[in-house]
Amino acid sequence: MTAAPTNLAGLDLRAEIDRLRREKNAVILAHYYQRPEIQDLADYIGDSLELSRKAAASDAEVIAFCGVKFMAETAKILAPEKTVILPDVNAGCSLEDACPPEAFKAFRAAHPDHIALTYINCSTEVKALSDIIVTSSSAETILAQIPRDQKIIFGPDRHLGGYLNRKFDRDMLLWPGVCIVHEAFSETELLKLKAQHPGAPVAAHPECPPHIIDHADYVGSTSGILGYAKQLPGDTLIVATEPHIIHQMELALPGKTFIGAPGADGNCNCNICPYMALNTLEKLYLALRDLTPQVHIEESLRLAAKTSLDRMLEMASGSVGRGDLGARS
Ligand code: 13P
Ligand code: SF4
Repeated sequence: MTAAPTNLAGLDLRAEIDRLRREKNAVILAHYYQRPEIQDLADYIGDSLELSRKAAASDAEVIAFCGVKFMAETAKILAPEKTVILPDVNAGCSLEDACPPEAFKAFRAAHPDHIALTYINCSTEVKALSDIIVTSSSAETILAQIPRDQKIIFGPDRHLGGYLNRKFDRDMLLWPGVCIVHEAFSETELLKLKAQHPGAPVAAHPECPPHIIDHADYVGSTSGILGYAKQLPGDTLIVATEPHIIHQMELALPGKTFIGAPGADGNCNCNICPYMALNTLEKLYLALRDLTPQVHIEESLRLAAKTSLDRMLEMASGSVGRGDLGARS
C-alpha cells in the first residue's frame, strides 16, 4: 500500500478527491497518458473515443476531465448541461497548436471539392469547420464509409493521415501538423532496443512517423495498444506511444515487461506528453473543490462543432472497445 499523497498543507488528496466527487456528483474521466496516481482514482480511463462516449452518456453533474483541452471541450460539446472542469487550463496539444482555425478555413476554401476529415486533436473552431471528426480508434471504420472518389482533406496530424493513405491506398491532402511526443521517437534507438530484446514485438500509435511505424508489429489507438498487450504471447513488448499507458499494462499483466520506445538520447522520458503531465492530484482536488477552471463554449460554435462530432459517433458505431486501426498490412 503506497502512502496517501498529501500536499496543500498535508491533505490526504485521494480521500479529499473522493469526498468531493461524491459531494459534487462528479465523474472523473482520465486518458491513458495521465499520471498513474490520476489513472488510479479515475472512474473511467480510456482513449479519446471512449472518453467522448462516456462524457456524452454520463449522468453526473460535473465531469472532471483529466486529459487535455480538446478532450474536455469535446465533453462540453457533447454534454453542454454538465459542468466540465480541466485541472490545468494550459493542458493543450501540439496538434491543436499546429492548426490555427483561420489558416484551416483558408485551406478549406482553396479546396472546395474536398471534405474535411479531421482528427479530434484540434480546437473546437476547427471541429466547427470540419465535416467529420475521427479518433485513432475510429478513423479506419469511418474512412471505409467514404467513397473512394471523394476528395478529402485530412488534418491536423500528417502522420495519422499518411498512415491511413498508405494502408488504404487513399490520397487525402494532409495538413502538416505533428504530435511532438510521437515525433520524438528515434529509429536508431528503437533498432538498438529491438536488438537487445530479440523477438519482442513493437506496438505503435499511428501518430508516430513512418520510420517508427515501419518497425511496428501492431499499430493502433491507445486502447488498441492496450488490447494488443493483453494478448501478447511473449513476455516483452516495446511500446511506441506516451509511456504513461504502461501503467495499465503493468496492472493488467504484472508478470510481463513493457519497455517505452526511446527518444534520440536513448531515454524514453522525452516522450512524456508535457501537456498531459500538467494535471496533478493537487490541481484535480482544487478543480473539484472550486469547480474551476471550467470549459465554456459559445452556443453557435458548440452546435457547429457538434455536427462533425455527431457524424463521428454515428459512423464509428461498433468500433468502441475494439479501439484499433488493426494490424499493419
Ligand atoms: P487515443 O485516441 O489513441 O487515445 O489518442 C489520443 C492522443 O492524444 C494520442 O496522442
Ligand atoms: Fe497532443 Fe501528442 Fe500530447 Fe496526444 S501526446 S495530447 S497528440 S501533444
